[in-house]
Amino acid sequence: MEQYVIKGGNPLVGEVEIGGAKNAALAILAAAIMTDETVLIENLPDVRDINVLLDAIAGIGAQVDRVNRSTVKINGSTIQDISVDYEYIKKIRASYYLLGALLGKYKHAEVPLPGGCNIGSRPIDQHLKGFRALGASVDIRHGAIVAKAESLRGSHIFLDVVSVGATINIMMAASLAPGRTTIENAAREPHVVDVANFLNSMGANIKGAGTDVIRIKGVERLHKTEYSIIPDQIEAGTFMFAAAATGGDVTVKNVIPKHLEATTAKLEEIGCEVEEFDDAVRVRATKRLHRTHVKTLPYPGYPTDMQPQIAVTLTLAEGTSIVTESIFENRFKYADELTRMGANIKVEGNSAIIDGVKKLTGARVSAPDLRAGAALVIAGLAAEGITIVDDIVYIQRGYENFEEKLRSLGAEIERVTCEKEIQKFRLRVG
Ligand code: EPZ
Repeated sequence: MEQYVIKGGNPLVGEVEIGGAKNAALAILAAAIMTDETVLIENLPDVRDINVLLDAIAGIGAQVDRVNRSTVKINGSTIQDISVDYEYIKKIRASYYLLGALLGKYKHAEVPLPGGCNIGSRPIDQHLKGFRALGASVDIRHGAIVAKAESLRGSHIFLDVVSVGATINIMMAASLAPGRTTIENAAREPHVVDVANFLNSMGANIKGAGTDVIRIKGVERLHKTEYSIIPDQIEAGTFMFAAAATGGDVTVKNVIPKHLEATTAKLEEIGCEVEEFDDAVRVRATKRLHRTHVKTLPYPGYPTDMQPQIAVTLTLAEGTSIVTESIFENRFKYADELTRMGANIKVEGNSAIIDGVKKLTGARVSAPDLRAGAALVIAGLAAEGITIVDDIVYIQRGYENFEEKLRSLGAEIERVTCEKEIQKFRLRVG
């Protein structure tokens, strides 16, 4: 089992390059099988979730040619199987995007009920409601969702909750459903827009992505395209908070600053200086940060995927902060780990109440999920002494070259596999 060992206390300083957005890429890869022509996708992050989905896509018979680390060619003309293997789906939730893609293309899809990060109960009723509205019958059989239709037809769908996954899944299937589909109360996240742009570049007719009403005119077929994925705003935000928590000065490059507005606003509110450039942001923390309240909301609100990172930063800020999680029910599992590092954090219902302390001290902690894992690394970088983060397999799901990028900013962090390597690290850093 791999772990991170970190010696904290160094302010992060320098420049870091952000990769492609994992959550956009997952949907775009699934959508790429919807044509029989070859699709080229660039700026792909080389992270575990992406590699598992590519295996799942190859597993149903599509040709997957990894041109290099960040580029892949996919050809869906050779798909023989509309049933996705449980092996893949239990590892990544996003394989459910193959439901929308296969249903749109073949009018038939079989995908096991998804696994993924354990951040609370994660129903997919809105996806299924959307498929049914498009004319599919949807049943759960032997743990799998079976969606089937003689033919699909455009429909009017009002989502009961703002869901990124449901918006994208319905958008994919509706792209090949004759007639007009309207998705109301749609998610507005940048990756929803990116997937719509990708599908449009394949010949789909989608309008309004980025607003809460998306209108789709079904087309007969989709065609080849070449497409570059947008930068990952959550990876970018994670480095921005790492700069803030360590009292650093980091320029995060290859980003779309507009996508980072909620994060930038909070960083400024707690006392950081944030400078925006065309495709970069610089975060400087020159003095002790101070308290704030924050509540996670669908985009353009403060993202749930940035909730643990701000909470860690606030454990070191002066005063009492309240962090409220309104999207997922179980996203504070890192709080006990932070307590072990000396943080004063108490979870009540869907809020964490944080009394800022002057310092954290290194401890052995365990990553409970992807973003909380990254946040514990930030805590380790800001803490006095040595921190060991276990279960970093979660972090590897979504961060490419995480430790290399942190090291380039002056962090002392290493990926290790055994006690002996930890001892070696301790001896080296003194
Ligand atoms: C996506 O998950 C992301 N995952 C998550 O990122 C992210 O936290 C989340 O959106 C919110 O931004 C991917 O893109 C692969 P939702 P998703 O459907 O699509 C409820 C990360 O760390 N809901 O927008 O599964 C749901 O329970 C991950 O990168 C229903 O009730 O999230 C939640 O409360 C973790 N019924 C809310 O909606 C449904 O059918 C939002 O979920 C669907 C969702």
